[in-house]
Parts: sequence; structure tokens; C-alpha cells
Amino acid sequence: MSSHTDLLDRILTFDEATQRDLVVFTRRWFAREDEVLVQVRRRTRELGLPEIQIRPEEGQILYFLARMIGARHILEVGTLAGYSTIWLARAVPEDGSVVTLELDPTHAQIAREHFVLAGLDDRIEIVEGSAHETLPMLARREPFDMMFIDAEKTGYPAYLSWALDNLPVGALIVGHNAFREGKLLSSTPDAAARATRELLESMAQDERLLSTIIPVGDGFAVGMIQRGVGSP
Ligand code: SAH
Ligand code: DHB
Ligand code: MG
Repeated sequence: MSSHTDLLDRILTFDEATQRDLVVFTRRWFAREDEVLVQVRRRTRELGLPEIQIRPEEGQILYFLARMIGARHILEVGTLAGYSTIWLARAVPEDGSVVTLELDPTHAQIAREHFVLAGLDDRIEIVEGSAHETLPMLARREPFDMMFIDAEKTGYPAYLSWALDNLPVGALIVGHNAFREGKLLSSTPDAAARATRELLESMAQDERLLSTIIPVGDGFAVGMIQRGVGSP
């Protein structure tokens, strides 16, 4: 690390106010929310759900990635009120789909209302229950072009393992909260930070994946499934 101090100097360029202005600028020009997204975020707050949905500029990156690979079928783990699901569902064609997995029945119910509000309920399917139990049943469904993981952090390594077993070559795996709100590299990491670190280290090392971190918001861990070295 110490040999990189010259490079580090070059990234620690922006003060907090500048950073904030840059996010405002990005949102204004590239990640503007329409009425539906604004309303979904407002209702999430009013109904007392945790406000841990992705930020607009993160939603727009998901949308961009999905469009870039021409995703038709997307799988999401962790629906909450459906904010991220709406960004994803808008990226797939009319005959495409998003399957989203949610443990909490209250969250699922509220999300369902939001999908109707967004006019996307015909494109989105919510599967209730713990993803650890519902994922095995999804293995035989249409191949998913993209999987967005945003549920309990301790589950991420298991979700990655499912993805590696079940997604086709070319599929994208995207994990939210790669930086764990700054706690990723804590010297006293909690279980969530430890699991996230485990996830990132295995994504970086796994030959079946081409991986990177997109440092938007709290960070996306991104891996594209590629043919393993030595396989045809
Ligand atoms: N992706 C959402 C935010 C998800 S918050 C957005 O950006 O809009 C995390 C969600 O994961 C919560 O709703 C929580 O209930 C759900 N969750 C937690 N553990 C889960 C599990 N084992 N299986 C499925 N969902 C889970
Ligand atoms: C938490 C979970 C998230 O997915 C997130 O984006 C922010 C916070 C949490 O469980 O604390
Ligand atoms: Mg998250």
C-alpha cells in the first residue's frame, strides 16, 4: 500500500462540499427521478420502512448495466419497497422480467403496490421467503442475464455461490454495499463487513469471473461470468 502513496494523493482530491456538488450534478443530468420513484421513496419513509434503498445514481448505474448487456431477465435478492426493482424493470424489454426475492411479507406487500403504481406489475414477480430457501427453486427458470444482490450481507457469499452454479456465461452479478458504508476495512469488522470482504476477495480471485468494483454510492461489486481457464 505504501508504495502507492503518490497515486493516493491523486484520488484524495475532492473535499466534502465538492463531492456533494458532484453527486447533485450527476443526479440532475444522469439520474433524475420521475414522479413514481419520488413517490416510492416518500412512501418508504412514511410507512416507516428502513430507508436503505439504493440512491438515484446507483439506480441509474444498474439501469445502464442492464441496458448495456441487453438484459431480458433479471433476478434481485432483497426487494424492500421495490425502488431498485423499478430501475431494473425499466431496463428490460416489454416481454422481459424481473424476479425479486423478499423475506419480509410487509415489504413484499408494499413493493407490490409500488409495481402497480409504476405500471410494471406485469413484468415483476415477487417471491416471498428467505432467498436461501427460494433460490434453489429458481435454478430451473429462464436463465437470468443479471443478478442484483442487496439483502443481508452475511448471505452474500451463499448468493454468489448460487450465481456461479446457475447463471449462464456472460451474466452479470452485482452486489450492493461493497464498501459497507466505510466499514469494509475496519480493524474490528462486524459480521456484515467480514462477509462483504469474503465476497469481494472471492470475486477478485475466482477464475470464472471478470470482476471489478464500481465506486458509486456505497459501491457495487460487479462480476461477469466468463469461461473458466482451461474449459472449452
Ligand atoms: N434493493 C432494495 C433495498 C433492499 S434492503 C432497494 O434498493 O430498493 C434489503 C431487503 O432484503 C430488506 O427488505 C430485507 O427484508 C430483505 N432480506 C433480508 N434478508 C433476506 C433474505 N434472507 N431473503 C430475502 N430477502 C431478505
Ligand atoms: C443496510 C443494508 C443495505 O442494503 C444498505 O444499502 C444499507 C444498509 C443495512 O442492513 O444496514
Ligand atoms: Mg444495499
